[in-house]
Amino acid sequence: MTKKPKPADVIQSLVSYRPNFGKNSSKSLIRLSVNENGIGCSPHVKEAIRANDVSLHRYPEQQDEELINSIASRFSINPKKILIGNGSDELIYLLCTAFLNPGDEAIYTEYGFLVFPQAIKIAGGKPVVAPDSNYTVNVESIISKVTPKTKIVFLANPNNPTGSMISEKEVSKLIELLPKSVVLILDWAYCEYVISGLSDAAKLVEANDNIVMLRTFSKLFGIAALRLGWGYFPAEILEILHSIRGPFSVNQLAALAGRVAVVDTAFQEESVAHNQFWMHEIVNRFNDMGVKTLKGEANFMLLDFRDTNGPSARNVAARLLEQNIQLRDMTPYGLPEMLRMSIGRSDEMEQFSSSLRKIILEEAR
Ligand SMILES: Cc1ncc(COP(=O)(O)O)c(C=O)c1O
Repeated sequence: MTKKPKPADVIQSLVSYRPNFGKNSSKSLIRLSVNENGIGCSPHVKEAIRANDVSLHRYPEQQDEELINSIASRFSINPKKILIGNGSDELIYLLCTAFLNPGDEAIYTEYGFLVFPQAIKIAGGKPVVAPDSNYTVNVESIISKVTPKTKIVFLANPNNPTGSMISEKEVSKLIELLPKSVVLILDWAYCEYVISGLSDAAKLVEANDNIVMLRTFSKLFGIAALRLGWGYFPAEILEILHSIRGPFSVNQLAALAGRVAVVDTAFQEESVAHNQFWMHEIVNRFNDMGVKTLKGEANFMLLDFRDTNGPSARNVAARLLEQNIQLRDMTPYGLPEMLRMSIGRSDEMEQFSSSLRKIILEEAR
């Protein structure tokens, strides 16, 4: 028998998470599939990158203090509790590596972000799904899944891909009922888009030794290409993550862009206003077309094609793609009759809505 290297058992059983995003270099693609910033990124970030003479032969700072201080003053929080990472994805993986022994359980919610189970499995843990109620996180259902083996609970709020959000009261109930030995990961990737009713996750971190908050520069701050995220951690957890992270995971350009993006509040406000406008406007247009949607609190929403008189989600997605418009297939999330749409530029939204209108008329079942 020929001998060959064999990956770890947990790795062999993984299904890789590689959604088809379409080519990001294609200017003609209307990409409404990845929850990016609909209006791009701050012009000041582009200027700063153009103007900066980055020393390419130098390693970046291990933790860019200027960036950390800018984040801390923008959100009035303690710089000593911040850790930056190569996207919040990196921090998700680090947390699983840090807290899961083989066979330990980590809970995530039904229709939760698929990176969560991936990171849990890679760390050797067992993903446990807590069923939602009506596409919304259900705190009691999370608590009912807690066992002595539970080490981590993931809560994305608003949740991706459903777009739904749970109230401050519900988050407080979760904190109260969860054993203090469990790390509660508050993934607030879309929090900047929420107008009201979302818990102040930083305050919750400050008040609890088992709670962490994750944030990203990929959404409202519009620099997904550079991979930059950050987290807010109790001192002991921060120390653990520091000891296992790769020292140079945030590159110089990402740190530079982050420093500029975080202080450009005018661009942030413009992004929120654009998002608010189109989240309302597009629902009105969908209503006219008879397309059902789930209420979304972030920069995306689910379109629901379960109605058997209308076209199927698969058909709509394929027809849109023929016109270079990409929505996200929800089959990997167990929602094959739904599509996720994120808010793009205004001209893209116009083109998308007129294409969809035509498809709905032509494809009625
Ligand atoms: C809920 C949630 N968490 C984390 C991320 C990852 O963000 P980043 O680009 O910072 O890795 C995403 C990206 O889509 C997300 O939807």
